[in-house]
Amino acid sequence: MSNTVLTAVAWPYANGPRHIGHVSGFGVPSDVFARYQRMAGNKVLMVSGTDEHGTPILVQAEKEGVSTRELADRYNRVINKDLADLGLSYDLFTRTTTRNHYAVVQELFRTLHRNGYLVPRTTTGAISPSTGRTLPDRYVEGTCPLCGYDGARGDQCDNCGNQLDPADLINPRSKINGETPKFVETEHFFLDLPALADALADWLKGRTDWRPNVLRFSLNLIADLRPRAMSRDIDWGVPIPLEGWADRGDKKLYVWFDAVIGYLSASIEWAHRTGNPDAWQEWWCDPQALSYYFMGKDNITFHSQIWPAELLGYDGKGAKGGSPGELGRLNLPTEVVSSEFLTMSGSKFSTSRGTVIYVRDFLAEYGPDALRYFISVAGPENQDTDFTWDEFVRRTNFELANEWGNLVNRSVSMAHKNFGAIPKPGTRSEADVELLRAAEGAFDTVGALLQRSRFKQAAGEAMRVVTLANRYISDMEPWKLGKSGTEEDRERQATVLHTALQVVSDANALLTPFLPHSAQQVHTALGGSGTWAAQPQIHEVTDDVLPGFAEPLVGAGLPEAGHSYPVIMGDYASEQAHWGRTEIAAGTELHKPTPLFTKLDPKLGETGPEWAPVNP
Ligand code: MF3
Ligand code: ZN
Repeated sequence: MSNTVLTAVAWPYANGPRHIGHVSGFGVPSDVFARYQRMAGNKVLMVSGTDEHGTPILVQAEKEGVSTRELADRYNRVINKDLADLGLSYDLFTRTTTRNHYAVVQELFRTLHRNGYLVPRTTTGAISPSTGRTLPDRYVEGTCPLCGYDGARGDQCDNCGNQLDPADLINPRSKINGETPKFVETEHFFLDLPALADALADWLKGRTDWRPNVLRFSLNLIADLRPRAMSRDIDWGVPIPLEGWADRGDKKLYVWFDAVIGYLSASIEWAHRTGNPDAWQEWWCDPQALSYYFMGKDNITFHSQIWPAELLGYDGKGAKGGSPGELGRLNLPTEVVSSEFLTMSGSKFSTSRGTVIYVRDFLAEYGPDALRYFISVAGPENQDTDFTWDEFVRRTNFELANEWGNLVNRSVSMAHKNFGAIPKPGTRSEADVELLRAAEGAFDTVGALLQRSRFKQAAGEAMRVVTLANRYISDMEPWKLGKSGTEEDRERQATVLHTALQVVSDANALLTPFLPHSAQQVHTALGGSGTWAAQPQIHEVTDDVLPGFAEPLVGAGLPEAGHSYPVIMGDYASEQAHWGRTEIAAGTELHKPTPLFTKLDPKLGETGPEWAPVNP
């Protein structure tokens, strides 16, 4: 039975190149998951894009002295390349400044408003007394009223994870110049979370198999639900699609209101771009379809509270009732899969503090699979985890090069040297059968772990097969066989090498979600042809997709049609990779293999590379 699986990946802000902290949260975990799901025969749709609204974009644009649009265009391109080079197999990686995205966001707003879950309310907003300008939430800092942390921001406390309003902060101050902000009255649309609280609780109570820390955090959030502002005093964002609001230059929808809708709008854009405009419904409207959302822990609130609340309100499932809009009844997340933070010397990766390792620098030097492997086995899966070069060198040299690379290399080399092809096996010994059984059994074990996003354990179990195979070869000493000239001896050598190559093929399939680039090489080394693991590609497209809503786009500040931008897409259906044993065929011609992984100089572990020195 095949499942329909939406892999929804958090949208990186288009405010700079990605660093390895970012991709350890949303990137690598989501791709390992999606690649496994495809191999297991499920119908996967993996979507994301750059998040291009909100204060983070304004701030960086100001810093670089360019318009918000120019900034978003610049980093959308940079991020496309970072993620494609890492081999992240998006069906569509797009952006939030498309006409399609605006149309879908406005459709959700309209329906939520019609159903009564978005209500206008007068509230207090912060302005700078010296300039008279609105201070965005992130620009107000102070003490968190809930946990007492002193560096809390006006939108969120990074210490306890709660959402805040600037007016909640104790001793608020402007991040720009330290002055105390003035609070003035302003009108905004509020998402009526209390009216959606019961529906949210019902949904969350059914979620028993999430990572425990994510579930605990999410359940805590619904204990205290207040209405939350879904618009902002800002001129950059999606216009509010209501008369009297749409053309106001100074009020736009809140970035988090629109960004999470990206999962849906990107699915719709994908359907249009691949020739079947209704195809997205399979992932969103069929109640049997599954959806997994991947992110870092600072995003949990928005995915286990705001996004499901928007969906419930759209579906008309809150205390105020209502009925779904033009898109029909939409599915809520099956699971919110969150990682913790990758840290450096104990603190969060930060561009501003200079503790940063960019994805592109890393890939240029060590290639994508070493990074993917490191994040999978030593990343912040359930706790904050320090990145050290020492650990990276150790994992690469001992596990990838010595264990896996060496197993492939010596099995293929010996078979090539002695037979020129995959040899034909004779009768198998007990040891042969036992190894083959362990390798085949690993598909169930590793598969079950990947299904639950237990990536560390899954990679460990896959590597266990590699270890068993290496031990088998050391025990069988196939290099000593075949020398006596007897037929029996020669046949035993053939059987041992056939067994080893079969297990190399098995291990390669088990490792494909983690190491898709080297998996392709191993496939070729075993005499295979064609695409084993497909890779994403960047295409240039035109902003010309629009779903057929009655009122497609409303308001000033809409994106122009015809803008050109890059997207990541891919032909993953053509790949041969599948979850299970592929019987290798005796007689398949072999060539002398090239090494899979190069060993790193152990000194790197102490010093780090020049571009990210350990002791600068
Ligand atoms: N841009 C946000 C961040 O980097 C994540 C947005 S995820 C989305 O924290 F789903 F809301 F888009
Ligand atoms: Zn706090």
